[in-house]
Amino acid sequence: MDKMAIRLDVNNMFVDRVGSEHGLTIEEVNSLQNKVSQAHENIKRAEPGFMKIPFNQAEIVQEILQLVEETRGRYDNFVVLGIGGSALGNIAMQTALNDPFYNYREEARQGNPRLFVADNIDPVLFKSLLEMLDLKRTMFNVISKSGGTAETMSQYLIARELVAREVGEDRLKEHFIATTSEHSGYLLEIARREGFRTFYIPEDVGGRFSVLTPVGLLSAAFCGIDIEELLAGAGFMAEKCATDALWENPAYLNAVLHYLAYQKGKTLSVMMPYAHSLKDVADWYRQLWAESLGKEVDREGKVVNIGPTPIKALGATDQHSQVQLYMEGPFDKIITFLEVEDYGLELEIPELYEDIQGVSYLGGHSLNELLLTEKRATELALSQRGRLNQTIIVPVVKEYTLGQLFYLLELQTAMIGELFNINAYNQPGVELGKDYTYGVMGRRGYEDKKEEYFNRPEKDDKLII
Ligand code: PA5
Repeated sequence: MDKMAIRLDVNNMFVDRVGSEHGLTIEEVNSLQNKVSQAHENIKRAEPGFMKIPFNQAEIVQEILQLVEETRGRYDNFVVLGIGGSALGNIAMQTALNDPFYNYREEARQGNPRLFVADNIDPVLFKSLLEMLDLKRTMFNVISKSGGTAETMSQYLIARELVAREVGEDRLKEHFIATTSEHSGYLLEIARREGFRTFYIPEDVGGRFSVLTPVGLLSAAFCGIDIEELLAGAGFMAEKCATDALWENPAYLNAVLHYLAYQKGKTLSVMMPYAHSLKDVADWYRQLWAESLGKEVDREGKVVNIGPTPIKALGATDQHSQVQLYMEGPFDKIITFLEVEDYGLELEIPELYEDIQGVSYLGGHSLNELLLTEKRATELALSQRGRLNQTIIVPVVKEYTLGQLFYLLELQTAMIGELFNINAYNQPGVELGKDYTYGVMGRRGYEDKKEEYFNRPEKDDKLII
């Protein structure tokens, strides 16, 4: 299995490659070993739920596989209603592991349903989706850990009404699964009342860490992804990262490098896969990093207003969009490339127009070669300009490697949270906006927020021209 292990190449983070003005030194990294060992003990003691997931989902996996088997051929569409941590992992896995045009290509689906993840409440988008689907042949998975998220629940209400109209009240439960907390929340109450099949999100696993629970596993399994291999990959990485020895633990090393760089003003963290299949992993990571690490106060309640800003980019596309900025803009970024060794196919460029050398030189090479060369060239150019960068090498994008990647990035987030001395598992910053929305929309208990909202200073006159 070592051939399938993802690897971390951090050479371009250090002075010998990027120069002494911005580069890190081995001594700086080593000086954090004690702090890391202490943080490792803290993490082990707290044992956040995501660390147990690779080892405690076996029963649920069997339940999911059985459901997929029982319903095979019954649904043309599987729709996820969820947002944030209840949606992004589903998208990331689908993009990574299934054909890029899976929804359009029957031969790629092999009888499995198409997947739609409705993670926005834009009315045009959602209406169009519902109109396009044959609701009689559609399964919805309503995912909300809290069971009360306004976006998800309003989508559910709309879908429920349409589906009931289409299939009748008595067959409604054949079209909805609820994935939520086992103990509380409105979604659980509704699911029980309606008789929906329910799957549970472990209480100690936060939304953004829940991709390998039923949150992500259901849609993945319905779409033919091998969910046992995903968990096996995560388990492999968990074992690899069980040590506190910095240079042996890629999650901890990566956290330390980001932490040191942050102290030196590199507060932006770019993830740039050179594979379309991993572009939504960068999106998933952006949420994981932002919600976990963007915090006002530390664990002692001291105001720190901390957090690296995650940015997603895609090679080669964003070489023509972002790289100019990375190369010549402020020295405020770390770029993490994701490099794929084996794309599973090789696409040759034909040898044409021999007399037009500026084009014909491409002939005889492959797109694989071109993409990899562009990545390596960008990496070299950035390093020469003193720009910190590193690469996560993915031998091949498969369930086993994706499971590793998820776990690696989650543990890295937990470790840097410790180094920043913040709580990486809450998101108090999003509550106030939600509370105003509840108030205005008429939810009981939020009347004071409604009042505050409507009494806000009226200064809009200068903004509307
Ligand atoms: O990571 C998180 O905790 C959040 O992004 C949640 O996943 C998101 O807010 C959706 O919450 P819920 O699953 O409770 O509907």
